[in-house]
Amino acid sequence: MDTGNSVLILDFGSQYTQLIARRVRELNVYSEIYPFHKGLERISTSPPGAIILSGGPSSVYDTDSPRVGREILHSGIPVLGICYGLQLIAYLSNMIVEPAGGREYGFAKLEILKKSQLLEGVVNQSNVWMSHGDKITGFPEDFSITARTQNSEMAVIESPKRKIFGVQFHPEVVHTDQGKKIIHNFLFAVARLKPDWNMENFIKSSVEKIRTAVGDERVMLALSGGVDSTVLALLLKKAIGDQSIPVFIDNGLLRKNEFPRLMDRFKNQLGLNVMGIEASDRFLDNLKEVRSPEKKRKIIGKTFIEVFCSAEEKIGKVKFFAQGTLYPDVIESVSVKGPSATIKSHHNVGGLPEKMHWKLIEPFRELFKDEVREIGRELGLEEEFVMRHPFPGPGLAVRIPGSVTREQLDKLREADAILIEELKNFNIYDKIWQAFVVLLPVKTVGVMGDIRTYENAAIIRMVESVDGMTADWYPAEPAFLKKVANRIVNEVKGINRVAYDLTSKPPGTIEWE
Ligand code: XMP
Repeated sequence: MDTGNSVLILDFGSQYTQLIARRVRELNVYSEIYPFHKGLERISTSPPGAIILSGGPSSVYDTDSPRVGREILHSGIPVLGICYGLQLIAYLSNMIVEPAGGREYGFAKLEILKKSQLLEGVVNQSNVWMSHGDKITGFPEDFSITARTQNSEMAVIESPKRKIFGVQFHPEVVHTDQGKKIIHNFLFAVARLKPDWNMENFIKSSVEKIRTAVGDERVMLALSGGVDSTVLALLLKKAIGDQSIPVFIDNGLLRKNEFPRLMDRFKNQLGLNVMGIEASDRFLDNLKEVRSPEKKRKIIGKTFIEVFCSAEEKIGKVKFFAQGTLYPDVIESVSVKGPSATIKSHHNVGGLPEKMHWKLIEPFRELFKDEVREIGRELGLEEEFVMRHPFPGPGLAVRIPGSVTREQLDKLREADAILIEELKNFNIYDKIWQAFVVLLPVKTVGVMGDIRTYENAAIIRMVESVDGMTADWYPAEPAFLKKVANRIVNEVKGINRVAYDLTSKPPGTIEWE
């Protein structure tokens, strides 16, 4: 990859850093996030075409605040500092950064003061989104102030000759009306990058890379039935044909009819030489009486590896193991926050256990989910599959708090199938990120046909999200909820009560475990 035509985003811990990367890629320029302290090294080994310094929660004048060396402003590479990034530019340029005497948070109107390449075409007095507590004073000659807001005298500063720009607000968030225009100006007018990042090019280059890496060897692919691994199966098929062997395991934790239906689809519609393995007894035996969510995940992960190993005994030695890991999983382990406190151990980034001899192939490690969906479309995957909701690796085991039994799984499968069917009937399925049922290990009293019932309660969970990192609970129509709840209680033996989950992420997570 020609890093000279890419953007390096140095992460100082902002909650919006991923969003910056997405915005740049939406404009067809490749971008990568790096922790700030590795920035200079990376710039000297593979210089990017432009650098963006992210926001962050620190104050640059604090002794232990995250900083980069001054060289960053003298490398000749265009720099855009956002919020904390702007203050860092100021700090490195000997300006004074100090507490503003209160936080400026929310909307502000941007008043453009001077002509600026960065603000070319930006409407005066448009809304910008602020979230900061520091301000800059003491101003050197080679910078000018090109815009301000009511509370920020220096909302945009720049040194156009050195191609250094700083904005106090967040152009990457949708609340900044002209944010996209500003990033566009930085990429194309200031840094003169070419918009060459698209999924067609990605497919071409990764097919080449996969062929070179794999040679005549064979690759086993972990197929989960989700979008990412299915798209990966299509990409591998294009690159190396039958040298790739997709393996789909029935772990007993899949949704209703998922295993036979998907096996049929993989073989007959997508032409994959998939190997199906029925291993539900093995998984459910290993999970018997296990209550802790983390233990369940670990056991399921370990059982998957065991089953893949036994698959290798059948198909013969393979050298590579492919999985559909995405960029958000990788970022969590490389961002400034480091491998963040483990909320749930669902990311595959840690790789395979050391004793495994397989080499990992993860072509989507640099992609966001919407980019993988785009590749799916390019490779001919039908829209219905492309837009499938995400489904967690440990499956329904994390949707039954506490220990998992066949009986509970069957109830959950029935209830979940009703929810999905009605989501499609009501045309809601494609509007949301994810929806599912959780079966509670709690029995409640009910009355049906004059008879007392004492059965499980179930929860309907529906969320909107862009990437699963944050999510809002979905305000579903009462008519829809009424229909689903009625059907579940009437049709699923063993569930007599249904409730709706009103928790966003944060503070909740999407799955219950
Ligand atoms: P949480 O529950 O962490 O979920 O807010 C975020 C997204 O990730 C999915 N998820 C998982 N995916 N293995 C996976 O492959 C897992 O263990 C796992 N846990 C959660 C979840 O469905 C949501 O889309």
